Amino acid sequence: MKIIWQLFGIHISLTLIILLLFLAWLFWPRKYPLIRKGLLMSSGLVLLGSVLLALYTYWPTEYEKQYLSKTLSPELTAIPLKQLADSIDFHIGVAVSPDPTFHKDILQEFNSVVAENHFKPGKLLVDAANWTFDFSKADKLMTFAEENDLRMRGHTLIWGKFPGMTFPKQWIEVINTASDPKKTMEGLIKRYIETAMGHYKGRISSWDVVNEPMAGEALYPSIFTQSMGEEYIDFAFKIAQEVDPDCSLFLNEQIIDYDGPSGKAFLALLARLLERGVPIHGVGLQSHHINRIHDTEALKKYIRTIGEMGLKVEITELDMRLLLFGDEQDPYQAQGDQFKKIVEVCLDDPACTGVTLWGLTDGANWMDGVPPFKWKSPNSPNILDEDMRKKPAYVGIWEALKGAQNH
Ligand code: XIL
Repeated sequence: MKIIWQLFGIHISLTLIILLLFLAWLFWPRKYPLIRKGLLMSSGLVLLGSVLLALYTYWPTEYEKQYLSKTLSPELTAIPLKQLADSIDFHIGVAVSPDPTFHKDILQEFNSVVAENHFKPGKLLVDAANWTFDFSKADKLMTFAEENDLRMRGHTLIWGKFPGMTFPKQWIEVINTASDPKKTMEGLIKRYIETAMGHYKGRISSWDVVNEPMAGEALYPSIFTQSMGEEYIDFAFKIAQEVDPDCSLFLNEQIIDYDGPSGKAFLALLARLLERGVPIHGVGLQSHHINRIHDTEALKKYIRTIGEMGLKVEITELDMRLLLFGDEQDPYQAQGDQFKKIVEVCLDDPACTGVTLWGLTDGANWMDGVPPFKWKSPNSPNILDEDMRKKPAYVGIWEALKGAQNH
């Protein structure tokens, strides 16, 4: 059944062609039997091709879990990630949801957390027309973090990508009908940051003030750029600093080609912000591996460049689709090797102060819930498998942290 839906969702154009051919056959004058036969046959052929393509593209693959036959060293089983990270003053974190059974692994393995969704504007500002906030779920996470001595990263204040989730949909209308859109937008940003960030003043030591400002080489076009141009970023950081002067203020972005045009465009944006005296302290490199495996050499240079600009770096949303490693003899191991390399690259540079994983177990991972990633499995992007067993990805991170002990 699933496959049928995918067929119609993704292969919509093929489906339309099939329908058109079929309709043409249906209504074609009967005195041309050969043409009608051709139409019917073409329709059938496209249908067959479409089904085969869907099966080929979306049929889930299973990779052998070769790691299950390997025994983990007693040292690895005895020393959790958190212990290694604590000893070198490094943040190792994970994204969590509001009603976690707060698995013991989170407390054991991490010294930092971030709310996967519940600090986002769409969750906090529940009634934009009346400026009604609901902090109950976010507060629950905050208290959990404080009670367990976990650092909480704030994610995120201003984000212009998905109306409803990243900012209230009503704001579109507000901006479109404003006599002075710039002033109006400044008012919205100010009020939002004052309320959301102000609520946690002194309790959250670093916030993603602006998330995903880029679309390739340009700024992502949104109501923010529409009303204020690039200056919306400056303004958001300025307000954030006024609200909590002790907080580290981050610009968070998903960069896929560190040495390519979009990577360079982001560096140019950073340079402009610094030039204008914007109070930015750090850069979050999300590091989702969704469509490609990131080049770790390029990442290394990228982190160095950002460090040389006087900014901190954190890897903020690390995860990797397993199928990217599907051509390897042992995809799980290859995924683990890449986790290890990314963490090593961060540990190697003093500017890079932490790594946050976007999820803990493959059994609950965001990619399985979000199109188009959910259509092509296995995503299995996390460090523990569905049965909470340690994958090579866990081992990779552990080894990277262990290796950093002697530096
Ligand atoms: C994702 C969450 O993991 C999903 O649960 C939600 O449906 C969509 O957002 N970049 C970000 C994160 O900055 O906030 C996104 O989180 C993943 C991409």
